[in-house]
Amino acid sequence: MADADRLVPARISELLTTRRFGRRVYYYPETDSTNRIAVELIRRGEEDGCLVIADYQTAGRGRLDRAWTSPPGRDLLFTLILRPGESVGNVLPVTLVLALAAARGLSGLTGAEVLVKWPNDVVTPDGKIGGILAQQPSVGGSGRAIAAGIGINVNSRRDDFPHEYRDGVVTCAMLSGATLDRARVLCDLLREMEDLYDGFCENGFSGIRPQYERRLNLLGETVGFDRSGGRVEGVVDGVANDGALRVLPAGEDGGAVLLYGEEVVSRS
Ligand code: BTN
Repeated sequence: MADADRLVPARISELLTTRRFGRRVYYYPETDSTNRIAVELIRRGEEDGCLVIADYQTAGRGRLDRAWTSPPGRDLLFTLILRPGESVGNVLPVTLVLALAAARGLSGLTGAEVLVKWPNDVVTPDGKIGGILAQQPSVGGSGRAIAAGIGINVNSRRDDFPHEYRDGVVTCAMLSGATLDRARVLCDLLREMEDLYDGFCENGFSGIRPQYERRLNLLGETVGFDRSGGRVEGVVDGVANDGALRVLPAGEDGGAVLLYGEEVVSRS
């Protein structure tokens, strides 16, 4: 990778328009996982908005213990340290807020329709373009904190992805027909994320919920999910203020079921 292409802190700070997000940066040409490093930094008391970013990860992690792979120097692999304070009860709505911000930012950058797939995927009609992995480590004395990991497919090519899911992924470059400046994409996304996240910390998720539901890709569609040991189908009705997915089970009159961590599969 040419030195000019590396996401070094000086390159990021040239383009940054945020107040806190990314103002303090830990950059790694290569590391195992930026989430793992962020958890370590949280334990050492690192501050809200601190950015951990890598040009390559050897053991990137995704949701549900999946691996997150990306070739060196083509995509965005970063983790934000967040210290939301007592008003934010759990990590789920933070995941939704960051996914929505990423979808909005990527829509602006590529001109494509970018949606959120509850809880953490950022998708387009052509495939997945990014994902969020927010973890809340146990942290003794240093207060409530979240390591919010974000992976965005920016310039990687279809054959950079493993065969198993090559058909289900898309990149910013594929959508816009040009190679993008990763530093610029990063700084645009950090701005979107900070604005939406600060609004969320001040007013809760209820003010953001209508925007989230407008970008929710399975709204009104039939999905399948596991419940009490069996497979159930229902129609996605929206999200609750704590970030749970609201699903109306087929053939039941009992009202919506709230899903918190279950995998949801489209049946439409
Ligand atoms: C998912 O869609 O399953 C979430 C993927 C999150 C990947 C990012 S890449 C940067 C950060 N470090 C990690 O190890 N994972 C997250």
